[in-house]
Amino acid sequence: MAIVFHPANKTFHLQANDTSYVMQIVRSGYLAHLYWGKKVRHYRESNPLQFFDRGFSPNPDPSDRTFSLDTLPQEYPAYGNTDFRTPAYQVQLENGSTISDLRYKTHRIYKGKPKLEGLPATYVENENEAETLEIILEDHVTGLHVTLFYTVYERWNVITRSVRFDNNGSERIKLLRALSMNVDFRDDHFDFLHLFGAHCRERYIERKPLFVGTQSVESRRGASSHQQNPFIALLRKNANEDEGIVYAFNFVYSGNFLAQVEVDQFHTTRVSMGINPFDFTWLLEPGESFQTPEVVMVYSDKGLNGMSQTFHQLYRTRLARGVYRERERPILINNWEATYFDFNEEKILHIAKTAAELGIELFVLDDGWFGKRDNDRSSLGDWFVNKQKLPNGLEGLAKSINQMGMQFGLWVEPEMVSVDSELYRKHPDWCIHVPNRPRSEGRNQLVLDYSRKEVCDYIIQVISDVLASAPISYVKWDMNRHMTEIGSAALPPERQRETAHRYILGLYRVMEEITSRFPHVLFESCSGGGGRFDPGMLYYMPQTWTSDNTDAVSRLKIQYGTSLVYPISAMGAHVSAVPNHQVHRMTSLEMRGHVAMSGNFGYELDLTKLSEEEKAIVKQQVAFYKDIRSLVQFGTFYRILSPFEGNETAWMFVSEDKSEAFVAYFRVLAEANAPLSFIRLKGLDPEKDYELIGSGEIYGGDELMYVGLNVPQRRGDFISVIWRLRAAR
Ligand code: GLA
Repeated sequence: MAIVFHPANKTFHLQANDTSYVMQIVRSGYLAHLYWGKKVRHYRESNPLQFFDRGFSPNPDPSDRTFSLDTLPQEYPAYGNTDFRTPAYQVQLENGSTISDLRYKTHRIYKGKPKLEGLPATYVENENEAETLEIILEDHVTGLHVTLFYTVYERWNVITRSVRFDNNGSERIKLLRALSMNVDFRDDHFDFLHLFGAHCRERYIERKPLFVGTQSVESRRGASSHQQNPFIALLRKNANEDEGIVYAFNFVYSGNFLAQVEVDQFHTTRVSMGINPFDFTWLLEPGESFQTPEVVMVYSDKGLNGMSQTFHQLYRTRLARGVYRERERPILINNWEATYFDFNEEKILHIAKTAAELGIELFVLDDGWFGKRDNDRSSLGDWFVNKQKLPNGLEGLAKSINQMGMQFGLWVEPEMVSVDSELYRKHPDWCIHVPNRPRSEGRNQLVLDYSRKEVCDYIIQVISDVLASAPISYVKWDMNRHMTEIGSAALPPERQRETAHRYILGLYRVMEEITSRFPHVLFESCSGGGGRFDPGMLYYMPQTWTSDNTDAVSRLKIQYGTSLVYPISAMGAHVSAVPNHQVHRMTSLEMRGHVAMSGNFGYELDLTKLSEEEKAIVKQQVAFYKDIRSLVQFGTFYRILSPFEGNETAWMFVSEDKSEAFVAYFRVLAEANAPLSFIRLKGLDPEKDYELIGSGEIYGGDELMYVGLNVPQRRGDFISVIWRLRAAR
């Protein structure tokens, strides 16, 4: 690992594990992009930039018609000075103009990685893990300084990027656009891959060839969203799960984002990512700064599996924080699909008792325990216990559950307020809204204005009081609507378009404060299931409820898509009742178990309604998961068969020392006289022999990977088969 500046040809050569990234200061100080890809020992300009006189590409230096920013691959392109492609940033000055021009001023290389004030980001635990380059660019007219941050990790093919704007001039500057990164590739031989979806259908994979023009994904919803994830990848045409080159970009942010790919007239490809410029501006008074969130860029020459493994390792160990980072996560039972709002202490204790008998470790009390909340029309904001439902309070309930040998967890939705609530009646201006406009409701609720300090302080206090009031070991932090009529009663007119980003900054402060006040609590984020499954949230809360859709078949796609970027330990997955509440499908308890065991395992159904036979199966599943838990949550994950490509899905988990593996295979629909199935395993040690636990058969890792393993023939729909492997002595 190294970051080296070569003064002779003014190049920066960044090396992260097996990746090189090269930039050059050209002409009068423009920062050009030269290369990103497989590591090279030395970059001696075997393919230097070429300059031609191109029609309709104007020239900043009139004496040189071959030089135009329109044709220069750049690191952080400006607007208005000969580049017609999408800029990475844009400013507006007091005279109304929107032009600026950045030139190299100075740079700094140092060990380690700086924190991003008030923002989530990947980190290092000692300064030898990474090296950082800061390049300061300057706009001579305004005195604006733009610092580009690049960190390279020693262990992974990871480069992180972010940008800071410092208004060092004497005028106010308005940022109209402030993306976190830009890369200009010299060609366009790529496919574009991203994760799209909807509530209950999150993170489906889409892969399409790039076309000339602009293709983008974004959120304007105030949250990273179910609809598009802040992740894109460019794949070389021959790249697949196991082979080929992939460039991936993931935004460490939970609000409005833009990820854009522009293929221009010369078939070069510009990729940029950051806060969505749509309905965003940020005013910088003289002396003020603006720090953008971080983008994590991963290079893989081992296809999508290689990319995912890099993200998983980085996020598990250098994004997630706290005591649960390395700790096995408890198997939980959540009462939402069991009771919805209709519960009392007796009912809860009955479910909890059954759960404890089956070996479940944590009881989570979901929505409906506070205020007068008997349905979703009231009480968000009134965070005091409903004594009619829970006469002994949270403390009494939690203690009874603790006595059964289980931990107690609680659902909260602290970013929201119901119109029918004491909080709203007292503070009607504490929600996001615009004067004289209607306040549209979503699920009968409004979004609290977290851009306001006093609102955040209030929430920190009331939620802390709740968490301190009982032995609570787990919190499910929910967020169930997107923003409309975005504006804040506390901001002046010229700062109204800062509201959505200020909200996210407020949210990050609230989460930082609460999670550090309660370090022993395991936090799981949620937004109508997986509507805010992003690295920003994972920095504060190491796991996320993957989807409100708990159907085993639907979950194959949802979990497969999610696994592209996010670690398995982060992916909440529960067994629920049949017919399934979201899609009304009947699947076997066995298959539901095997799908949920492929994630962060739990149950979400009324266990008291199960037959004795079903309870026995649950007991076995719980015991089995405890055995494979560390393998699933902290092992290396491999996708084998994709639910997006056919009727079968398969994936597997391998322990770090390759001595253990867990494989799961699923077939959705039965077919008469079907072809015979077999799967080739991945990630095993070819030199080792493995025992298939249960059958006692022994095969070499090489044989299992290259020759494969037959899937036993079984009739019927919704079939699942699992194998456990242990290295034979
Ligand atoms: C959201 C969550 C669910 C559940 C409900 C409660 O939809 O995703 O898991 O907690 O809210 O209202």
